[in-house]
Amino acid sequence: MKIGIIGAGNIGGNLTRRLTALGHDVSVANSRGPQTLTALAEETGATPVPVEEAARGAEIVVVTVPLKRVPDLPSGVLDGAADGFAVIDTGNYYPQRDGRIAGIEDEGRTESRWTEGHLGHPVVKAFNGTYAQDILDRHRPAGAPGRQALPVAGDDAAAKAKVRALLDELGFDTVDSGGIDDSWRQQPGTPVYGLRAGVEGVTEALAKASPERPADLRG
Ligand SMILES: NC(=O)c1ccc[n+]([C@@H]2O[C@H](COP(=O)([O-])OP(=O)(O)OC[C@H]3O[C@@H](n4cnc5c(N)ncnc54)[C@H](OP(=O)(O)O)[C@@H]3O)[C@@H](O)[C@H]2O)c1
Repeated sequence: MKIGIIGAGNIGGNLTRRLTALGHDVSVANSRGPQTLTALAEETGATPVPVEEAARGAEIVVVTVPLKRVPDLPSGVLDGAADGFAVIDTGNYYPQRDGRIAGIEDEGRTESRWTEGHLGHPVVKAFNGTYAQDILDRHRPAGAPGRQALPVAGDDAAAKAKVRALLDELGFDTVDSGGIDDSWRQQPGTPVYGLRAGVEGVTEALAKASPERPADLRG
């Protein structure tokens, strides 16, 4: 499958490694340009591209940049993706890192709803509570004992199904955590965030979440 990855840091880099190892055709971009991604390209066989080209022809686009950088993405950054493409949003809001974002704190949007507004396209929230290193280290075949589960939220059923299938291929079970308005259940500070558990544990943790943003995660 053709996959575009916007952001080549901890998460984007490791997704590039795993997705190329699985045989996917990966284009990857950062903010500084493809000439700064030659080491990752040589290691993985991914194609480094300018960010404007990352989504071109992609069935799945992963947006994995710090939240405060989302508004810097060029307008039309998703133009040229394949029909019916899905967007994975791995983002988290940390006011200490991202600055205070009024659209999240005052206007009651979930982090992914805010991101979606900037991208102009629905997103599927996944990997946001997963340690980047776990993408390399903790994948297991379907049905293996101790296989880790990850929550996946999204409003578009077809896009969510596509993303859940990709996560399964990457070696993780998934739990449907609802729509994007429910995705506070997997934001930073919630019980599922950073949890290494299977389907049952993740389901229980999602049910225990509170919509109240913890004081240390407010700007
Ligand atoms: N690290 C984790 O374990 C982890 C786990 C789950 C979720 N997350 C979340 O996932 C997101 C990414 O985290 P990360 O740790 O992977 O970040 P990171 O290591 O800081 O990498 C960020 C990447 O985004 C790129 N970028 C920034 N602005 C850009 C722009 N305008 N256009 C294109 N690329 C741009 C950066 O490129 P340059 O270097 O060229 O600027 C860099 O490659 C964050 O919201 C984070 O909270 C992280």
